[in-house]
Order: sequence, then structure tokens, then C-alpha cells
Amino acid sequence: MNKGYFISFEGSDGVGKSTQIKLLESYLKDLGHELLVLREPGGTQISEAIREILLDKNNAKMSESAELLLYEAARAQLCEELIKPALARGVTVIADRFYDSSLAYQGFGRGIDLNEVQSLNEFATGGLKPDITFLLHLPNSLSRKLIDHEADRLELAGEEFMSRVQTGFLEIAKAEPERIKLIDASGSKEEVFSRIIAELPC
Ligand code: TMP
Repeated sequence: MNKGYFISFEGSDGVGKSTQIKLLESYLKDLGHELLVLREPGGTQISEAIREILLDKNNAKMSESAELLLYEAARAQLCEELIKPALARGVTVIADRFYDSSLAYQGFGRGIDLNEVQSLNEFATGGLKPDITFLLHLPNSLSRKLIDHEADRLELAGEEFMSRVQTGFLEIAKAEPERIKLIDASGSKEEVFSRIIAELPC
């Protein structure tokens, strides 16, 4: 049993996750939570090195299975090195993406068999699940406008890919309504944050 509470944020690129994570971080800190905030892929030295390979535009030749395995490798390292020990100490963990992203991007987006992705997710995490997941949702046309950096390899994958990812996230949320809270990401950052707080049990 985890002692700490595990929160993940999901959604298509440019939907405003980082802003909401910052707001939640300061809200929970004020409530006295000890917090660990992480991003996927990344969070440890090894996982950040894998992130660079995954997002590098020069790696256009990367195969779909190599891509999936690299995300899973980064995740496995993050779970073992940081997330599981933190939860065991009673720390609240906030993750900017977790395994639902592999289902949405590599499963629904790339078309890799969803059962295969699910098995690899379980292998990489050792069965660790977030207690709650906030899926931020905006129509694709709007979310793309929020991206404020040069597009990385995944963001260059095209509109149809992104639209499959978007549909995928909605399917994933439908299948697990207890864990995954669908959050309308339109409106001001304060409005979106109040929708998140309304779903928080702690
Ligand atoms: P970020 O831009 O939210 O930091 O995420 C990096 C990119 O990696 C983003 O385009 C989503 C993508 N991604 C996957 O394709 N599969 C995964 O399992 C994860 C965690 C991220």
C-alpha cells in the first residue's frame, strides 16, 4: 500500500498542464503536503537522457517500437528511483504525464496494439497506478496555439496523429471514470484550477 498520494496530469500537447501543476503544487504546499513534482519522460538523470533522445527532431528515423520502449525505460527508472520511494515515505507525488500517455500516443496515436502497450506499462511501473489522474481537454485547434516553444519530434507528428491521441485520451478516461477526471481546460487558468480542486479528495 502506498502511504503517499499519487496524482498524474494528462492531455494533448499545449493544453496547459504545466500551469495547472504549478498552481496545484503551491496549493498543496500551503496545505502542508510534502511534495515531489516530476515530468515524464524525465525526472531522473537516466530518464532525462532518454527524454533528449525521444524529443530530438534529428531522430526522425526512430521506429515506433523503439519509441515505446524508450518511454517505458524512462518510466521504469523514474518509478524505481523516485516515485515508489517517495510514496513509501508518505510524500504526495505529482507527475506531468504517466502511463496513460503511452496508451494515447503510442497506442492510439501510432497504432501499436493497446494490449501490448498496457503490458509494457505494467512491466515498467510494476503495477503502480496513480490514485487520481486529471485529463485536461481542449479542442486540438485551441491546444496547439498554447505551445510556446519550438516543436519537438512528437509535436511534429502531424494533425491526424494528434487527433488520434486526443480521441485516445477520451477513450482511456471513459474506461476508468473512477480514477481519471476529465477537466475542461477552456477559460482562465483560475477557472480550470477550480475544476481540478473540485475533484480533489485531499
Ligand atoms: P511533454 O511535452 O508533456 O513534456 O511530453 C513530451 C512528449 O512526449 C509529448 O509530446 C508527449 C510524448 N509522450 C509520449 O508520446 N508517450 C509517453 O509515454 C509520454 C510520457 C510522453
